[in-house]
Amino acid sequence: MNKTEDIFILGIESSCDDTSCAVLKNNIILSNVTATQSIHQQYGGVVPELASRDHQKHIIPVVDGALKNANISLTQLHSIAVTCGPGLSGSLLVGLSFAKSLSLALDIPLIEVNHMQGHILAHLIADENQHAPSFPFLCLTISGGHTQIVKITSPLEFKLLAETEDDAVGEAFDKAAKILGLPYPGGPLIDKYAQLGDATKYKFPTPHLKNNNYSFSGVKTAFLYFIQDGVKQNPNFIAENLHDICASYQAHLINYLLKNLIAVSNETGIKHIAIAGGVSANSGIRKQLKVIGDKYKWQTYIPKFEYCTDNAAMIAITGYYKYLNNDFCELDIVPKVRYEL
Ligand code: KG4
Ligand code: ZN
Repeated sequence: MNKTEDIFILGIESSCDDTSCAVLKNNIILSNVTATQSIHQQYGGVVPELASRDHQKHIIPVVDGALKNANISLTQLHSIAVTCGPGLSGSLLVGLSFAKSLSLALDIPLIEVNHMQGHILAHLIADENQHAPSFPFLCLTISGGHTQIVKITSPLEFKLLAETEDDAVGEAFDKAAKILGLPYPGGPLIDKYAQLGDATKYKFPTPHLKNNNYSFSGVKTAFLYFIQDGVKQNPNFIAENLHDICASYQAHLINYLLKNLIAVSNETGIKHIAIAGGVSANSGIRKQLKVIGDKYKWQTYIPKFEYCTDNAAMIAITGYYKYLNNDFCELDIVPKVRYEL
């Protein structure tokens, strides 16, 4: 293989409830098409069986759309990169089986990608408005299933420095939203209402764990009791205070996330700081990271909005670095529901 020629990678993501396909030319995204699944809203969370069926419906139109938008034919591709985990088994199987078939049919190598590495490496996608982070950098990776602080020393070298010991922060958003009677996923709605409220009105507890780890299950339970008490005293408590409740709760989660991030930055001396994952779309954390960054003289990196929640562009860019490293996988690979960094 001539490594000086342009490399075209097709990325496929299907780990949860978004079916996504992207085409990448070196580190430049040519297209990124995502089909979201609204069917789960009525159930208040992702129903795995329904998610895998919807992936089956979406995968061909999504891949087709990505190739058309990129104006690329299948024969120009050098490799297929696909999410192998972590995620829902049935959902992962759809993308993985499709990617295997394509790799076999086109006789090009398959690259398996860790979804969480993908979230982080979205920062290496070429962006005219922002430089990629310098190595080493820290990434606070915040999604529906994970809350981690990771040290990244090169595109393929990751070290987990802290993580949640129970729920992820995305769950803390979504479960609180459910308690407030908001539809799934509630994170973006809490964000929306928080922008209209007083963040200092209500207080919530902050767990202190060893090693800068997080815990969100106690915070979530405290929130449930707080709402139950409020409603006992005033049946209209939620409706009358929704904005202040969302603002206070969101500010609490953000302060907690950033408190441990500051501690890890101080301990490691690393001042290049990124955020990634679905919760990094939150307007509050995007603003607060800049404020804290100025205070501690950090260089901060905030992903483009479209690369925060699940997308295949992040899988394709990870695939690109693995391709340069000749890091390919066999066709008998199976989904990794749990997949450590
Ligand atoms: O990374 P992601 O799309 O999927 C996983 O890998 O889990 O993250 C989804 C999570 C959900 O919990 C969703 O509520 C949360 O990201 N989220 C937000 C916002 N946008 C998405 N949470 C707070 N504010 C937002 N604006
Ligand atoms: Zn994700």
